[in-house]
Amino acid sequence: MEELKVSKIAEGTVIDHIRAGLAPLVLRILGIEHGYPGSAIMAMNVKSSRHGKKDIVKVEGQFLDEETINKIAIIAPQATINIIRDYKVVEKHRVELPERLVGLVKCPNRNCITNSPEGVETIFIPEEGGKLRCHYCEESVDLRRVELYY
Ligand code: CTP
Ligand code: ZN
Repeated sequence: MEELKVSKIAEGTVIDHIRAGLAPLVLRILGIEHGYPGSAIMAMNVKSSRHGKKDIVKVEGQFLDEETINKIAIIAPQATINIIRDYKVVEKHRVELPERLVGLVKCPNRNCITNSPEGVETIFIPEEGGKLRCHYCEESVDLRRVELYY
């Protein structure tokens, strides 16, 4: 298969090395949907220089805040965030899960206080083996199955 070429951006953010198939979730986290006024590029299942296939999302003129980067780290832990200025990569970071994820992940336990009408913000703590543990009810969620508050 011939390699798919995706154009470079002038100024903004490139989220690279997203696990193949997950770019739509990254777009959702970024709030890029029907009616988004800016320029963005999504590539799915393109050849990766490292191994196999990957997804890429490029957003012109946007630089991501910490909360957005944390959400991306939850669903795409192997992603890199590249900051582009004047067509050049001026910063490159691996995303990293913080020690606590506050108000980002839904608890799957329906009896958890975070699912009660009082609306307590969820707190999840990353654990060994790709899991997150609810601070309130101790329920564990697999990172590949988490549901986010978008
Ligand atoms: N990129 C872009 N627009 C630019 C510069 C870079 O869209 N003006 C994209 C590249 O296409 C690539 C990503 O940003 O997807 C990172 O660029 P670069 O660091 O040059 O590529 P690699 O060295 O292949 O990155 P890595 O080692 O992280 O795979
Ligand atoms: Zn819980």
